[in-house]
Amino acid sequence: MNPGLLAAATLLALLAITFSFFNPLALFSPPHVPGSKDHLHAARILHVSGAVGPESLVFDAHGGGPYTGVADGRILKWEGEQQGWTEFAFTSSNRSNCVRPFAPELEHVCGRPLGLKFDKKTGDLYIADAYLGLKVVGSAGGLATEVVTEVEGQPLQFTNDMDISEDEDVIYFTDSSTIFRRRQFMLVLLSGDRSGRLMKYDKSTKEVKVLLRDIAFANGVALSKDGSFVLVAETTTCKILKLWLRGPKAGEVDTFAELPGFPDNIRRNSEGHFWVALHAKGSPFAKWVSSNPWAGKLMLKIGFNFKQLHSSVAGWKAHAAAVKLSERGEILEVLEDCEGKTLKFISEVEEKDGKLWIASVLMPFIGIYSL
Ligand SMILES: *[C@@H]1O[C@H](CO)[C@@H](O)[C@H](O)[C@H]1NC(C)=O
Repeated sequence: MNPGLLAAATLLALLAITFSFFNPLALFSPPHVPGSKDHLHAARILHVSGAVGPESLVFDAHGGGPYTGVADGRILKWEGEQQGWTEFAFTSSNRSNCVRPFAPELEHVCGRPLGLKFDKKTGDLYIADAYLGLKVVGSAGGLATEVVTEVEGQPLQFTNDMDISEDEDVIYFTDSSTIFRRRQFMLVLLSGDRSGRLMKYDKSTKEVKVLLRDIAFANGVALSKDGSFVLVAETTTCKILKLWLRGPKAGEVDTFAELPGFPDNIRRNSEGHFWVALHAKGSPFAKWVSSNPWAGKLMLKIGFNFKQLHSSVAGWKAHAAAVKLSERGEILEVLEDCEGKTLKFISEVEEKDGKLWIASVLMPFIGIYSL
């Protein structure tokens, strides 16, 4: 028997033993979430023409936009039905080969903008580019300039998301892994990598400080309304971590919420509640494999391709789920498109004027859902 086949047989046998008490289909099925509303299929679709993967969405201080970063490295701005999407900014100056909507092998050249946030005081747009670090561009757009490219003498590997504290003049941001890059995000999840970090960039001193280490896929970031704590999504463990910034517990970390799936970005609404987009709900298999790195490593060794790895973790039925959390981390609402009729693999939910603007790292559109 060749080693690949042997490994596959071993994995299957172990799975069969581990899950013998489950119905095999249920193993890969996204779970039912009690109290959730299967309403998101009613969202209106806004196509991002000629582009895919609008991962994060942000409106400027005048309510213009949204702006979104897409897979070919551009940041686009929605100018309304008449004008549609216009090119606003980019993070790389070497864009001559960045002509295909989706070319993961060129992401380190073209840039891959993920988290976006406006500094309300200056009107500048800050960009967490997965490959090129933290960048900034003025309100007129164009080529973004570097803000942070390395931390503790090492280049950032997988910059992911941020939030800005205007009072303190600092930016809290994540690097998902010090080992893997964005196009290898399934490896972060499956290999048991815990090299994710939360950092703080001080705009006046230009200093970067690591606040939290050893995070298993550090992802979305959001400050509380009063600035007393910052949340970080820990994707692999399906948790939201809370780091106290002020008060007697300053510097301590708590688990803020445990979620029914893998969290991506977190965005606060005007009431101080948090919307968390789940990339996918965690099937029994996904939860098991993400907490047993040996199994994930075995799948990698067998040579599963990206699609196989992704669907084994994201479930055999594509779907969308968003969770609203209170300031204390209680689940207030779960909205879903259980069948993936309209939305799937969502990455961010931004609430504005009674609507949810819903982004996706993989789809060629955003969704607009009226609350
Ligand atoms: C620009 O990108 C191409 C790949 O598309 C690369 O071969 C080349 O070295 C890059 N040039 C610079 C100046 O970085």
